[in-house]
Amino acid sequence: MLKPLSISDLAAMKQSGEKISCLTAYDAAFSALIDKVGIDMILVGDSLGMVIQGHNTTLPVTISDMVYHTRCVSAARQRSFIIADLPFMTYATPVMAAKNASQLMQAGGAQMVKLEGPRIDCVSFLVDQGIPVCGHLGLLPQSINQLGYYKVQGKEQVEAEKIFTDAWKLQQAGASLLVLECVPASLAKDISAQLTIPVIGIGAGIDCDGQVLVLYDMLDIGIMKRPRFSKNFISDAANIEEAIRDYHQAVKQSFFPAAEHSF
Ligand code: KIV
Repeated sequence: MLKPLSISDLAAMKQSGEKISCLTAYDAAFSALIDKVGIDMILVGDSLGMVIQGHNTTLPVTISDMVYHTRCVSAARQRSFIIADLPFMTYATPVMAAKNASQLMQAGGAQMVKLEGPRIDCVSFLVDQGIPVCGHLGLLPQSINQLGYYKVQGKEQVEAEKIFTDAWKLQQAGASLLVLECVPASLAKDISAQLTIPVIGIGAGIDCDGQVLVLYDMLDIGIMKRPRFSKNFISDAANIEEAIRDYHQAVKQSFFPAAEHSF
């Protein structure tokens, strides 16, 4: 039995310059495979609303859905660090955030929870209760009805400065990790260099401290079109395990993402 990675192992990886690999998973079979390959973190993302449940957005996902899938994932992993998403409207107040995060940790087995946006009030409240938090800035899928459509964020100077300041505030509030989604590579590079916590990119260029992809996108089994920032890793692999291993190696050796997957 391998020892699960901890928050300190992830911090040490940033310190030493070792890239952090992460994939989403929602069930025990994929969790076991991802863990066996050596992927550092598994994100039980609310993307499950789109890739598992078939919705157009992540909004219908409930806390019970998240607890169920997080429990499936944590039952099968040995080493990978487990992060679970707080779904839409489950962190409208800091007290709600704490109640729902505790379910993901106690019933689901998550080691950290992720929430979208500069919710400094919730982050500091959770951290005060001993709950490790991952922030998520840039493209915020739970805000799709405000955004109108999925698009790159932070292209304008004012927008980029806001993302930079929010990232800093999340770190100050005690976040231990930050996901940056769909932002220009140059902005992600600056944020990764300035923050002491690991910054994990998805559509955020090569200079982040680590990378995350939605598993179904990189295996090309999603029901929606694969986003430009993702890559089909199954096309050159003999099987799923090899595709996941190729992704892991590509992240560790800084071969992924290439320019064509970045903005
Ligand atoms: O829900 C999810 O899978 C995510 C990733 C896109 C980062 O939040």
